Amino acid sequence: MLVTRRETFSASHRLHNESWSDEKNNEIFGKCNNPHGHGHNYILEVTVAGEIDPDTGYVIDTKMLKWIIRKYIIEKVDHKHLNFDVDFMQGVIPTAENIAVAFWNQIADKIPTGKLYSVKLYETENNYFEYKG
Ligand code: NI
Repeated sequence: MLVTRRETFSASHRLHNESWSDEKNNEIFGKCNNPHGHGHNYILEVTVAGEIDPDTGYVIDTKMLKWIIRKYIIEKVDHKHLNFDVDFMQGVIPTAENIAVAFWNQIADKIPTGKLYSVKLYETENNYFEYKG
């Protein structure tokens, strides 16, 4: 059984590789290398896989899943600049791929019942990124 909780947040980022020249950054990242960054309204879907507990009928209490996602992810990234304001994103180019992996690492060991199955991050209406560990 798969159980998914959806959350949304807004954040800004800049795609920039410190070890490259400005020219190469511009060539690879284009507008996403804009010096002062740009923002997205992200949608995050976290899925937990597990067996149904016969006593509760739950795989995971979605109230608990919501609390975990908000405490360890949303409160740290919502209305923040991912390059500067988020401790667990330091030293990482904040592409959606890297954000999804970082979010997985934030919560994988916090799931009380079942196991983290996937972290899916929608950066735009047309692009989403899914990490399964
Ligand atoms: Ni972007």
